[in-house]
Amino acid sequence: MQKKIPVGVLGATGMVGQRYIYLLADHPWFEVAYVAASPRSAGKPYCEAVQNRWLIGSDIPAGVSELIVGDANDVSAAAGKCAFVFSALEMDKESIKALEAAYAGAGIPVVSNASANRWTDDVPMLIPEINPEHLAVIAEQKKHHGWDKGFIAVKPNCSLQSYMIPLFALERAGYPVKRMIVTTLQAVSGAGYPGVPSFDMIDNIVPFISGEEEKTEKEVLKILGSVKDGRIEAARAPVVAAHCNRVPVIDGHTACVSLEFDLPDEKKPALAEIERVWTSFRALPQELSLPSAPLSPIIVRHEENRPQPRRDRDADKGMAVTVGRLRPCPVFDIRFVALSHNTKRGAALGGILNAELLKAKGFFDGLY
Ligand SMILES: NC(=O)c1ccc[n+]([C@@H]2O[C@H](COP(=O)([O-])OP(=O)(O)OC[C@H]3O[C@@H](n4cnc5c(N)ncnc54)[C@H](OP(=O)(O)O)[C@@H]3O)[C@@H](O)[C@H]2O)c1
Repeated sequence: MQKKIPVGVLGATGMVGQRYIYLLADHPWFEVAYVAASPRSAGKPYCEAVQNRWLIGSDIPAGVSELIVGDANDVSAAAGKCAFVFSALEMDKESIKALEAAYAGAGIPVVSNASANRWTDDVPMLIPEINPEHLAVIAEQKKHHGWDKGFIAVKPNCSLQSYMIPLFALERAGYPVKRMIVTTLQAVSGAGYPGVPSFDMIDNIVPFISGEEEKTEKEVLKILGSVKDGRIEAARAPVVAAHCNRVPVIDGHTACVSLEFDLPDEKKPALAEIERVWTSFRALPQELSLPSAPLSPIIVRHEENRPQPRRDRDADKGMAVTVGRLRPCPVFDIRFVALSHNTKRGAALGGILNAELLKAKGFFDGLY
């Protein structure tokens, strides 16, 4: 059996960090060898650092329980212990930016969930089914910073994961989209732990998530962008108007989408054609059989009341997006409801899929 690659998790005690610890426990390629968090947790065994706040409905994996938590701000503590790190830190943006650069500068690649580097134009913001060719900017990133082995790759916001793959599948099939209106119903786990106070959340909906609408409206365009001169140039379309709401659901972000095609009426796809495009959609992660890739990235449901978070969020390891209620839109062209698991596809397992793609493409060669 091949030796597993030792990895570190920064922010290992948080909501997303715990998901990483749990999901990496049986990973065929990676093994958690280092965990780090804030100075509040540093120096404690992992099980003690997460005492009374382990949120996964299962025991802490034995291999991690007794690891001593490092201070994520001390880059030298990770050196020699792991080939690369997953970053699931929640700090102010400038501190995360500086810290992720310090890890990369020390020769430790960073596969990040944080938003700090999403707009750095030589940092790829990956959904492996959509834009694996954006990995090409890593060579420029390394050259620009003088980094030898380290680099930074990020994943986009969790709120857009459910509709990005269906949108891209349509674009790839020759049906470009001009405009979209998206209303998201986002789970409380998206706010980390302890997150939104229960008194604000039970029997309630909060129609505001700070920064979320601006992030999603812009990120769609970078994800669909193209590589030019070692940098990612954002796409110009579609224009997206997002309404992001926090709802009393534990896991699973839902999006209600209306979209208009950038095509003359006679070239717009029929509903049956859209369903064919979605159900037949496969991409590089499926071709490479990456361990965390879903077999079918898009699952189409026909029941009138699906998708639903409790029933559909865990489809294919929580990595498939589920689409339903596809129907004509009297204002735009079509409308549908899409759902994805925000702490799996939208966070930790999405980050693991990014790392699997990076490994398959040789970006970790010589580091372990
Ligand atoms: N939740 C989601 O669904 C989701 C989805 C996509 C992306 N994200 C992103 O993923 C990241 C983590 O989110 P989360 O929900 O897991 O947050 P969280 O539950 O608040 O966890 C934050 C983590 O960061 C650590 N940390 C906080 N301050 C620190 C400091 N000064 N120095 C070093 N470490 C520090 C915490 O350590 P202590 O435990 O020691 O305080 C903890 O491990 C964020 O950037 C978030 O935007 C989250």
